[in-house]
Amino acid sequence: MHLRVASFGIRALCGEGLKGLSMGKESILVRGNGTLSGEVKISGAKNSALKLMAASILGSGESVIHNVPDISDIAIMSDVLRRLGATVCREDHSLRIDASGVDSFSTPYELVSRMRASISVLGPLIGRFGQARVAMPGGCQIGARKIDMHLVGLESLGVMFEVDHGTLIASTPDGLHGSHVVLEFPSVGATENMLMAAVVAEGVTLIDNAAREPEIVDLCTMLCAMGARITGAGSMSIEVEGVPLEDLHPCEHTTVGDRIEAGTFLAGGALTGGPVTVQGIDPEYLRMAILKLKAMGCDVACGEDYVTVKREGDLIAADIQTLPHPGFPTDLQAQFMLLSALAEGTSVITENVFENRFMFASELMRMGADITLEDHHAIIRGVQGLQGAPVSSTDLRAGAALVLAGIVAEGYTTVYEIEHIDRGYEDYVGKLRSLGADVVRKESEERV
Ligand code: EPZ
Repeated sequence: MHLRVASFGIRALCGEGLKGLSMGKESILVRGNGTLSGEVKISGAKNSALKLMAASILGSGESVIHNVPDISDIAIMSDVLRRLGATVCREDHSLRIDASGVDSFSTPYELVSRMRASISVLGPLIGRFGQARVAMPGGCQIGARKIDMHLVGLESLGVMFEVDHGTLIASTPDGLHGSHVVLEFPSVGATENMLMAAVVAEGVTLIDNAAREPEIVDLCTMLCAMGARITGAGSMSIEVEGVPLEDLHPCEHTTVGDRIEAGTFLAGGALTGGPVTVQGIDPEYLRMAILKLKAMGCDVACGEDYVTVKREGDLIAADIQTLPHPGFPTDLQAQFMLLSALAEGTSVITENVFENRFMFASELMRMGADITLEDHHAIIRGVQGLQGAPVSSTDLRAGAALVLAGIVAEGYTTVYEIEHIDRGYEDYVGKLRSLGADVVRKESEERV
C-alpha cells in the first residue's frame, strides 16, 4: 500500500477507489514531500473582518466590505447579523450588509456558542439600541476567554450588566457617556467592544493600554469612514469623540490582509527552505515574526505588499515570547514551535497571552518532536526529522501547523478535526497544493 501510494502520490489513494467511504468528518492527508515554494495570495484578515461586520450595525443602510475571506467564521457572523435583522449578501470576496433592517438586540446561545467572536456585536448593539442581550461566550481549547475587561470598560461608559441564565443583559439607563479607561491588559476584544460603543457616547473617551493590533487600526479606519471621530488607533492610547448615532452612515471598506495566514505560509517556507512569497500583506504587520525568521537562519525580503522567505542552511534555535502586538503573535506560536522542533539547538517558547495554548506540542511529540512543557514555557530540543502520524487539530492555528509538519515529516500524516482550520483559513489545502505540497482533503470514516 505504502509503495503503491508513494508511486502515485496521494491523489491515487483518494481517487475513485475510496469513493465508497461513508460521509464522515473530513480530514487532511499529507504525504511528506518537503516541498513548499512559490507565491500565494493572502486572504483578508479573519480577526478584522468579523469586527468590521459587527461595526456595520451602527450604520443604518448598506455597507460594503471587500477582501472578506470565505471561511466558516464569516458565515456564522453573517447568520448572527441576519438574526438581528440585517441582510448579508456575499459577492465573491465582498459582503453587502444592509443594517437598516436591524430591529433586534438579542443574539441567541446557539449562535454565540458556535463562535465566541459573536461577542463583538455587544458594543455596536449597545451603541445602536442602548441595550443588548448577548449569550455569554464559553471558553475554548486555548483558555477561559473571559470577558471581564469588556464589561468593566463598557460599564465605565455607563452600561449596566446583569446575567440571566447565561445571557448577558446590557442597559444604559442614563445613556452612554465618555470615560477615561485603563485596560488591565491590552485585550483585542475589549478594545473593539469599547470602541464600537464609545463612538456614539456623549463626550470624549480615552482608552489607555488599548490593543495595538493592525486589526484594531482597520476597525478604527472603517468606523471613521462611517463618521466616527477616533485618533490614536494603533497606539496604546485611543481617543474617541462621540457623535450622535444618526451621524454614523454606511461605508465601503477593504479588509487588511491576514497577517496570521501570511505568517503561517512564511513558516512553511522557512520549514522547507522555500522560497515562499506571501502576497497582499503589509510586512509591517509581521515585524517580530520576520525578526524571528531571520534569527532562525532564514533570508527574508519585503516589498510594499509582499514578503519572501527562503533558507539554505540549518534552522537555528531561537527563544520566543508571545505578547500583544507589536510583540510576537500568540497566533503564530504553534507554527514557530514546529520550526523550533527541527532547529539546531534548544529553544524556549513562552506563551504569555493564553493560559492553555500548548496542546499542539503534545500532537507534535507524537510525530517525534522533543518538547518539555513547564507551566507557560515549552522547552524544545531540535530533532533531525519528524515521522508522519494521525494527529488532531486542537485549535485553528495548531491545525494549520500540523499540516505543515506533515509536509516535512517522513511518510503520511492525517490531520483530523480540520473544521478548526476551516474557521480561519480559506482553501488552505488548495493554497498549499499551489506551492507544491502533496495534500488532499478526504472523508474520514474513522480515525486510524
Ligand atoms: C483575539 O482574541 C483574536 N480573535 C485571537 O485570535 C488572538 O489570539 C487574540 O485576539 C490575541 O491577539 C479574534 O479576533 C476573533 P484578547 P480576543 O481579548 O479578543 C484574556 C485566532 O487564532 N482576557 O486580547 O479574545 C483572554 O482570556 C484567535 O485567530 C481576559 O482575561 O483576545 C486571553 O488570555 C485565537 N478578560 C488574553 O486576555 C477579558 O475581558 C487575550 O485576550 C478579555 C481577555
